[in-house]
Amino acid sequence: MKPVVLRSERLVLSRPTRNDIDAITESCQDETFPRTLASLPWPYTRADAAFYVTRIVSLGWLTGRTLTWGIRESEHGPHLGSIGWRRERGDIGFWLDARSRGRGYMTEAVRTVCEWVFSSLGQERIGWEAVAGNLASARVARSAGFRFDGERPVEVAFRDGSRPMGWHGHRLRADDGSAHEGWPV
Ligand SMILES: CC(C)(COP(=O)(O)OP(=O)(O)OC[C@H]1O[C@@H](n2cnc3c(N)ncnc32)[C@H](O)[C@@H]1OP(=O)(O)O)[C@@H](O)C(=O)NCCC(=O)NCCS
Repeated sequence: MKPVVLRSERLVLSRPTRNDIDAITESCQDETFPRTLASLPWPYTRADAAFYVTRIVSLGWLTGRTLTWGIRESEHGPHLGSIGWRRERGDIGFWLDARSRGRGYMTEAVRTVCEWVFSSLGQERIGWEAVAGNLASARVARSAGFRFDGERPVEVAFRDGSRPMGWHGHRLRADDGSAHEGWPV
């Protein structure tokens, strides 16, 4: 599948490239990441970022199995974060550089990706999961119109094989994107 560029009011979502390797390496030194992002290598090195961009992201688009966008403020702006949709699991995952948080960027990015996945890929449902207590992630999901499904261990195991208690949610194509009751945040 050819990488797709998505645009929203303040953001451009486009495929991460080799030019983003340093920014991704720097962002992923965040000490909260190993607790919140199941599949992120840790410690995170430049080689991990290079592998991510040249293999994981490229193959994901090529096969259409994992579609990953870098979050930017303009077409050629720096890489501020990442958002991805996984076909097999039908879910989304995301992170933002600590310096770019608190502006509603991730909520905007999640809404944009969901709307495209529903309208262009014809999917009926998008899932979300986070480690229980990840308030920032849950607020993004709630603000982006997801419904809360409850607490049970995460489905995607962490690097050490553990499956901590998780929060789960989903958004349906038929949903209008407004916030739902029932969230613990
Ligand atoms: C999750 C993450 C992308 C959210 O980024 P963000 O910039 O806060 O996102 P937004 O600005 O869109 O904010 C969304 C909401 O979270 C709230 N929020 C942000 N950080 C918070 C925190 N530490 N605690 C509680 N609420 C928080 C915001 O106030 C906002 O709430 P509102 O919609 O009710 O106003 C960011 O915190 C992050 O990258 N965390 C580490 C990686 C991670 O946890 N990824 C998700 C894995 S499931």
